[in-house]
Amino acid sequence: MPNFAFINNKLVNFKSAKIHIEDRGLQFADSVYEVIAVLDNNLIDLDFHLKRLKYSLRELEIKFTINKKNLTNIFLNLIKKNKTRNGIIYLQITRGIQFREHKYQKDLTPTLIVYTRNKSFNLPGKNYTGVNTITFQDLRWKRRDIKTVNLLANIIAANMAKKKNAYEAILIQNGKVTEGTSSNIWIIKRNNLITHPANSDILKGVTRTSLLKIIKKTKLKLIEKQFTHNQLINADEVFLTSSGSFITPILKIDNKKINNGKIGNITLKLAEMYTEACING
Ligand SMILES: Cc1ncc(COP(=O)(O)O)c(C=O)c1O
Repeated sequence: MPNFAFINNKLVNFKSAKIHIEDRGLQFADSVYEVIAVLDNNLIDLDFHLKRLKYSLRELEIKFTINKKNLTNIFLNLIKKNKTRNGIIYLQITRGIQFREHKYQKDLTPTLIVYTRNKSFNLPGKNYTGVNTITFQDLRWKRRDIKTVNLLANIIAANMAKKKNAYEAILIQNGKVTEGTSSNIWIIKRNNLITHPANSDILKGVTRTSLLKIIKKTKLKLIEKQFTHNQLINADEVFLTSSGSFITPILKIDNKKINNGKIGNITLKLAEMYTEACING
C-alpha cells in the first residue's frame, strides 16, 4: 500500500484519504482518469496522457485547468514519498460535490485525486511473457473515447476473464473486435499490422499513439481498420497495449493458440523498440 495520496491541494496519508459522500465521482461516475506508467522514475508518455485528459475533461465540460508544471510536481513528489521507482500514477478528476441530482451545476470545484502504486512491468528480456485471453461481448456505452470511471461493462468482462484464468477479455461488437477491457488490441497478418481506428468505439490508448510513431520506422504496413473475430483468431501474431502492460503478446484466445502459443518475432521487436523509446525518450 502506498503511504501518501494527493487530494486537491494536499498531500494526505493514504489510509485516511477521504472524499465527500456527495462527490459526483462516487454517485454518478461523473469523473475522468488517467493511468501513467513510471519506469525507472521516468513518467512515460506524459504529454499524451495530459492531452487525453484535457480531451476527456472538455467532452464532459468538467472545468479543471491542467497545469503541467503543477501536476508534474505532484507526480514527482508522490513517486519520491511512496518510493514508486516502477509502477503507475493514478489520477482522477471528478466534477465535484453537489446535492444528488443528475443535472450538474456549472460552478462546481472538481476533486483531484492522485496516488501511486508500485508495479513491475512485462518488458522484453528473460522474463517477458505472453498471456491468455478470452473474447466477450462489448456491453459498453457509446463514448468510449472519453476516459471515464464508468467501467462496469469492462469490470464484468475482466472478471469473466479472471474466472477463466485469462489476463484480459477482448471485446467483440457485431462480430468485430473493438479493444480489451483495459487495453488496445493489435493483429499481425504477414507484414500488415491492424488495429481498430481511434473513434468513439474505443479509447485512443497512449501506448497505441506512441507505438504508431514507432511503426513508421519499420517496414510494417499499418492499417487502422476494424477486424473480425475470425481475423483475430487466425492472425499470425496478436498483442495488446496499455500503460500498465506496455506491449504484451497474446498467445491464446479462448481455446485457440496464436503462433503456436509462442511470442512472435514482430511483437518482440516492437516491444523492444517501444521499451527503448521509453528509456531513452
Ligand atoms: C478501454 C481501454 N482501452 C485501451 C487502454 C489503453 O490505453 P493506454 O495505452 O493509454 O493505457 C485502456 C487503458 O486503461 C483502456 O482502459
